[in-house]
This record gives sequence, C-alpha cells and structure tokens, in this order.
Amino acid sequence: MILSSLLFILNVLFAAPSYTQTFQQTNYGYTGKYSLQSGTGPYPPDSTSLSFDVHLRSKSCVHIKIFDPSHTSYEIPDTIQQPDPAISASNPDYDITFENNGIQVKRKGSSATIFDSSCQSRAFVFAKQFIQIATTTSQDPIIHGLGERRTEFALKVPQNITVFNQDNLTPRDENLYGHHPFMIDVQPDGSCHGILFFNAYPLEVELNNGFISFRSMGGSLDFYIFTGPTIKDITQQYTDLVGKPCLVPQWSFGFHNCRWGYPSLASVQDAMERYHKANLPIDVMWFDIDYMDEKRLFTTNPTLYPPAEMKAFLEKEKAEYGVYSVSIVDPGVKIDTNYETYTSLLETGLYINESDGWTPLEGNVWPGPVIFPDFTNPAVQSWWTRQFDKFLGTVPFDGIWNDMNEIANFCNGYCDDTRQKQTFPWQSVDIYKKQIPPESMLSTGPYISSRAFYANQENIRTVDALKSLRPGLRPFVLTRSSFVGAGRVNVKWLGDDSGTYQDMKDSIAGVITSGLFGIPYTGADIGGFLFSGSPELLIRWTEMATFLYPFFRVHSCESIPAHELFRFGEPYVSISRKYLHLRQTLQSYWYTLHHVSHDTGVPMVRSLSMEFPTDAAVRRIDTQAMLGSALLVSPALAEHQREVEAYVPEGRWFDFFRYDEVKVGQPRTAKFQCELDEVVVLLRGGEVMTIQEQHNHSITFMKDTPLTVLAALNEKNEASGCVTVDDGLGDQICTTTVQFTATQSRVQFVVKNNDFKTDQTVKHITVLGLAGKKVSSVTTQPLDQNITFLFDEKRGVLDIFHTGKGWRLDEDRLFSF
Ligand SMILES: *[C@@H]1O[C@H](CO)[C@@H](O)[C@H](O)[C@H]1NC(C)=O
Ligand SMILES: *[C@@H]1O[C@H](CO)[C@@H](O)[C@H](O)[C@H]1NC(C)=O
Ligand SMILES: *[C@@H]1O[C@H](CO)[C@@H](O)[C@H](O)[C@H]1NC(C)=O
Ligand SMILES: *[C@@H]1O[C@H](CO)[C@@H](O)[C@H](O)[C@H]1NC(C)=O
Repeated sequence: MILSSLLFILNVLFAAPSYTQTFQQTNYGYTGKYSLQSGTGPYPPDSTSLSFDVHLRSKSCVHIKIFDPSHTSYEIPDTIQQPDPAISASNPDYDITFENNGIQVKRKGSSATIFDSSCQSRAFVFAKQFIQIATTTSQDPIIHGLGERRTEFALKVPQNITVFNQDNLTPRDENLYGHHPFMIDVQPDGSCHGILFFNAYPLEVELNNGFISFRSMGGSLDFYIFTGPTIKDITQQYTDLVGKPCLVPQWSFGFHNCRWGYPSLASVQDAMERYHKANLPIDVMWFDIDYMDEKRLFTTNPTLYPPAEMKAFLEKEKAEYGVYSVSIVDPGVKIDTNYETYTSLLETGLYINESDGWTPLEGNVWPGPVIFPDFTNPAVQSWWTRQFDKFLGTVPFDGIWNDMNEIANFCNGYCDDTRQKQTFPWQSVDIYKKQIPPESMLSTGPYISSRAFYANQENIRTVDALKSLRPGLRPFVLTRSSFVGAGRVNVKWLGDDSGTYQDMKDSIAGVITSGLFGIPYTGADIGGFLFSGSPELLIRWTEMATFLYPFFRVHSCESIPAHELFRFGEPYVSISRKYLHLRQTLQSYWYTLHHVSHDTGVPMVRSLSMEFPTDAAVRRIDTQAMLGSALLVSPALAEHQREVEAYVPEGRWFDFFRYDEVKVGQPRTAKFQCELDEVVVLLRGGEVMTIQEQHNHSITFMKDTPLTVLAALNEKNEASGCVTVDDGLGDQICTTTVQFTATQSRVQFVVKNNDFKTDQTVKHITVLGLAGKKVSSVTTQPLDQNITFLFDEKRGVLDIFHTGKGWRLDEDRLFSF
C-alpha cells in the first residue's frame, strides 16, 4: 500500500497518467478495470477507463489483454490457433498477482518475476495512437527474437527495436520484412520465458538494463506470456498458440538455383545445362520477374519466355532430372485495361482503397502503376484461385514465391507528391517510406493496422488456391514478408542480403531466430543477392548452408555477375559438388527433423543454447549452430580462414566426416583445421541419425535409396534417434517412424508407427565410440544370414553391412555384438 501511494505521488510529480486497478476472479482467470486518476501521457487524450482480462490459458501460457472498450474492436485474423479457454488452466506453472496497481506473472514456487506491468521505468500510457507499458528484466539481459532484422542472436542492450515489416535495403540493425514482436528473455539462472506482444501496428520494443518497454501506434496491450523454462520448451508453447510449422514437399530440401537477370528462357536452359554437365545435383529452378510480360502477374513474355516452350522445358527437367520449379508472384496488379487480371480485379471491388473506402489505391512497383488485391477479405479467394488456375494451366510451376508483400511500394505513400500526408503523434519509423499510405482501406481496417498481416493473408489465399487446384499435393509457398504464425501456412527466406561474410554470419542468427518465430524453414540467399563476393565466399557459404539452411538456394540480382555454382572453375566446382552430395547424404536427417518441427515446433536448426540450456557459456553464440540435436556446425566466416576456433559443449563428440572421437579439455574451446573444402562438423555422442550414401541428379531420385544408420555413443555408452519417412509430396500425411537405440553391445530398431508403405531399407549401420571393446560376431533377430561386419578396434568404429537389399524399415530388429 505504501509503495503504491509512493508511485502514485511520483506519477503525479512527472504528470504521467496514473490509473487505479480493480480486479475480480472469473472462470478463466481474472477481469478488471483501470480508471485514470490524474496525469496525462505525452499524446493526450488518454483513455480514462480501460478493461483487462487475464486468461490462464494453459499450464505454460497466460494471456493478458488491456484494452479501451470505447475504441473500435479490432481482431487480427487467422493467427491465434486456439481461442482463450472458458475455464482457467489447472495447476499452471505460474502465479498471478495484482500488486502496486499492476499485474504480475511469477514463476510458480519461486519469486522470479516473468512479467510485471507495475514497472515504472517507462510510464503506463494508453491513448488512441500511442500505447506503452513496461515490465522488468534482469540487469544485463539476454534477449532473442523481435524481428525481423539482420543482427546478432543475443540482441544488443540497451536498444530500441522497431518492429515494422518493410522492404528495407539498409544493412544491419534495422527493421526488415517480417513483423514478429515475440521475444525470449534468458534469465541469469538460465530459466527463460517468452513474451508475444500481439499487436499489428508499427511498434517499438525498448530493451534496457532492468526493464523492457513496449509501445505501439495503436491497438491494445495484448500479451501472451510463456513460462518455458527452456528455449526449446518455449518454441513448443509458442507454436501451440500460433500453429505448428507446415510440412513442405521433400524436394524443397534439395538445392535451388535462382537469379534475377536471366533475360530469356534460353539463359535459364543454359544454366540448367551447365549444372547437369558439371554433374552438380539440382532440385529446384526458380523464375524471378524476368519471365513476366512487362512485369504483369500471371503472364509470360511471349517472345523471351514463350509459354509453350516453358511448359515443355519444365516437364523435361522434371522427367529427366527430377527438377521442380518455382515462380515469383507479386501483389501489385498492373493498371492496364487490356489485362484481364486487372480488369477482373476491378470488377470484384476486392482491392485496397484510398481512405475514402471507394477509390482504388494506386501504388508503383515493377510494372509501374498498380493496384493491390485486398487479401484480408476472404471473398478475394475465388478471384485469386482463378488467376492461378489460368497461369499454372499454361506453365505448370510447382511452387509459388510471394515477394514484395510488405507491401513494397516505390512511392512514399501516394505516388502523387502533392497529396497531404497524415501525421501521427508518435512513430518510431517513417511509415510512408516505400509504403502505401497508412490510411488506405482494407476489409480489416486502415492499412496501418492491417499491413503487418497482409502477407500472411496473401499466403493463406495462395496456399488455398494451390490446394484446390492440386488436391492431394502439399503446396510450396515461400514469402518475404511474414507476421506471427506465418510458419503454419508457408515458408520464408531472409530477403535481399549482400555477398559479404558479415551477412553470411548474420544469417546464422537469422535462421535460428526464425525458428523461434515458428518459421523454421528458411535460409538466406547463398553468395549474396545484392553485392558480389569472392568465389571463396560463395563456397564457404554453400558449405555452411548445406548444414544450416533448410532453404538452400543460390540467388543473385541482375546488377551483379551471376554466381551459380558451376561458374568459377576448379577447385570451386568440385567443392560445390562435394557439398551438394553431402546435402543429399543428409536428406533423411533434414526431413526427419522437418517432421519433428511440424509435430512439436522445435526447429531443425537450433542455437547451441537450445540444445545446451544449462551451459551459460553458449547463450550468446551465433557463429556456430546445431542441425537437430546431433550436429554441431562451426563454419569458417572469413576469407582465407583455414582454422576455426569452436566452442564444444560438455559431452562426447566425434568428427562427423572421419568418425574419430574429438577430445576437448577446459575451457571448452578448440581449434580445428578447415581447408577450403572443409567445414567443421561434430557429431554428438548419444545421437543416432540416418544418412544416405548414394547420390543422384536430385533427391527425387533418391527417395528409396538405402539408409545408413549412424550411431555415436555418449559417456554412458548409449545413443538414440529416429527416422521418419513419407511420400514427400502428399498432403495426407502418412508416416513411418523408426526409433533407433544403440549401446556397446547392441543396436535396436523399433517401429513406432508404420502408416507409410516404403521400400526403403537400411543397408549399413555404423557405431562410433567402441574403442577398447572387442567385437567378434554380429547377429541379428529376426535371423538373417546376409550380414557382414568390420570392426576398427583402435578407432572403436563398427560397420555392419547387409549384403543384399537391406533390412526393412517396417520390422523391429535387434543386432547383438
Ligand atoms: C529508446 O527510446 C526511449 C524513448 O524514446 C529513449 O528515452 C531512449 O533513450 C532510447 N534508447 C536508446 C538506446 O536509443
Ligand atoms: C473498395 O472500393 C470498392 C468500390 O470501388 C468497394 O466495392 C469496396 O468495398 C471497397 N473496399 C474497401 C475495403 O474499402
Ligand atoms: C539415379 O536415379 C535413376 C532413377 O531412379 C537411376 O536409374 C540411376 O541409376 C540413378 N543414378 C545413380 C548414379 O544412382
Ligand atoms: C540373402 O542372400 C542370399 C544369397 O546371397 C540371397 O539369395 C537372398 O535373397 C538374400 N536375402 C535378402 C533378404 O537379401
């Protein structure tokens, strides 16, 4: 009581708004009110009366929403997957208190505060166009998330972070394409919690020593708070709320080639020919805006990219080489009365309007003057599907790339410079810069409140179009802009990067942070999109991406020389081939991890802190990362670098390529040789993974090639892991999952589920970590004579081979030695 009166007096002194809080218990948690007592915020008038709800949603998630009931209610569509429950979660991991005129979330059984709205480091303000709230954190906090930006994994503190999805070419530490106001706070004792500020307006998060403040240009103070306590737990809890990552077709885990600047189909054909001639596997060819007829969506240039020839070429590449194709689509529809996509959109009336809610809003993008479909209106679906129907009927692309959907605009607001710009009391960023005007109208409200999820809505419509046109097939839709929950529907890449080691390094943080947002399938443009680097950079980047990018694509823009992997002669082509083969070797592991991420939300590529939550030394590391829980990847990140100093967490480790055990003392950093054709990858003791030893033009042709089970024993001489297989293409997901365990004397296969009929077999088993042991025989149950083995006693490596077709995946099996 004394403290709260004190704060009240302080607030009056600084004239900040001061509210009193009342609350009562409900079935679902609490409800309450704030009444303004005195003071004013910086941008009056302040709301005089606010309501709040505290929903105890689940054991690990609480929803707190503070809103002004007199403001028009505003819902963000298609994002939260489960509504707030009508009753409160039983026995949650947190306690709720209402001290000092604020709301606190505390970790159950400890006094640790996760959220405290009574924090006065920044005033509590609630006005129509400015809202602000602060909460507490540790003195030297480690914070992840808050994207999209190109930056470190552990964000710099103090720092003000703008969250505003924007096509923004500035290099680092500025807001980029995605709107993800989600953060993970790692406390000094290692326990973590997550906070989603569920607000789609342009906003800012202030990170500071001891406090965090959230402010926005509108909406409500809407928070979902997750108790963790590990980062891995939080990714599961967060994706329970916003949706688990979607499954993509297996071919999309192969190698992709793209370039903006293939002036004709012949130049694409030439590039593909050179990949094939160089015996470089390739899975997906991309078509950037070059193919369009004067940049009109859903058209192809009749002379440079004749549609009939394109179709024939796509079909030939797929049949002969297993190559799939993806084409770019932008939201801007060229204003052209002789263009059916435009005239039919006009007829529907389903476009973004000016603030009058009537006049089509004109932007300017690649085709010149354009209008934009209103993807927030579900009624636009049938028009959008019709466009794809006609387009894909002519040129049967397999996947769609939704670009420019921030929405990027070449005008700053209205293209007519004489038009008045709206002013706002507070903004953390120029909201007209390369944007359409914030007052433009969509079905969900003015653009300022809808822009963040416009791309999500476009992607939902695109996926639905593909599903209805190709029933039974899993869509592949890649986006540049994204909002909370994007990963449930589509995948993403990290946008326009540059050919520098800095951008290559930052992409590691980019990928692991995207995983925290529930969008684990991502990657940066290998080699850099905007500026050229050296052939060595391209090679180093390809090596790293083999292990750390789910989305494995080379791309470059028309103003820089092309850097496809066949282009730079030896030794670069041979090294590229080695890594494209390695990518194929890793296919079943990538794809199994993809299923894990789809089922649980735990991403494929992980920070060390996700895998080693109790190791305080790894919390800021973003120059190394884990593929799954098995592979620790430490890439070279500088020109001429031939040695990497890597942190190696506690445990038993093996060289992934040579299978030798790697011993590291204290402190746990060690130097590793890495010649130009090497990347440092360690296999973690305790893990079993599958690899594929054969190679082919593309992973399409590797679907049924035999697996090798690779087991690395830990200090307790145990290891476990699994493989999941399915048809790689269909949307009816039937899987077969086999669990593998290994000890010093046996390897076991246990079929966990067996819904997908597969001919794939295991032909080879390798067990690492048997040094000092004797192996004189290997037998298997059920009995099988077709077995041989090799044991390297000195290195402790046991190889077991099937001399015939291999052991089936749908049968439990025990090997003893
Ligand atoms: C962040 O913004 C606040 C409020 O505008 C300001 O007081 C503070 O100095 C800023 N911090 C940094 C690091 O720029
Ligand atoms: C946009 O304007 C058209 C008429 O030009 C109207 O039919 C439509 O409802 C408007 N949509 C919005 C979201 O304002
Ligand atoms: C590649 O796959 C095709 C089709 O399955 C097969 O005929 C061919 O032998 C394979 N090539 C290699 C090198 O394994
Ligand atoms: C085992 O080997 C024999 C002879 O080499 C062969 O006939 C038989 O098909 C093999 N069985 C399997 C399951 O591969």
